[in-house]
Amino acid sequence: MDITRDKEEIQSRIGQKRMDHVLRVADYAKDLAVHYGLDPEKAYLAGFYHDCMKIRDLDLLKKAARDLGLEWTEEFDQAPQVVHGLLGALAAEKMYGVRDRDILNAIAYHTTGRAGMTDLEKIIYLADYAEPMRDFDGVDQVRKEIKEDLDQAMYQALNRTIQYLIEKNSYITIKSLEARNDFLKKVTHGKIY
Ligand SMILES: [Fe+2]
Ligand SMILES: [Fe+2]
Repeated sequence: MDITRDKEEIQSRIGQKRMDHVLRVADYAKDLAVHYGLDPEKAYLAGFYHDCMKIRDLDLLKKAARDLGLEWTEEFDQAPQVVHGLLGALAAEKMYGVRDRDILNAIAYHTTGRAGMTDLEKIIYLADYAEPMRDFDGVDQVRKEIKEDLDQAMYQALNRTIQYLIEKNSYITIKSLEARNDFLKKVTHGKIY
């Protein structure tokens, strides 16, 4: 890994604005890692590479998936915006030399979430969701909650995202639903009813 060298290459693919977002996520993730007693360097790296394959053009995204050996599934046609997570993890491993499985999973699942997320995975998901330039109703409260309870913050973030997708008549990935139900179990300690 060579962040300085990789930054130029990644920026040429995703653009300056997206790169600025990436650096805000990396900084925020590092802060959260310190706050929760996790490895700040790992959090920074996961944040740094999380959107490295955020390619807007669908044909180019498909080509990148072919090049990196990611099989295109039917779900990808329904929700192409989730592909860059899985593809980003493959790129981080094969192109940028990231070997740490936890970092790679945090990149892979930063758009959908999944059941059984590690704290690093939660931190990347939430840093992406609420980085300093994000602006939505209640974002300050969300940032406060992120520092208080990662599971509760994940549960709320997934609920919001799923509600938003329903309102837009958009496809919801199975992984997101599994993640949401997993956090429901965690925040209610298994006593749903
Ligand atoms: Fe992303
Ligand atoms: Fe992002």
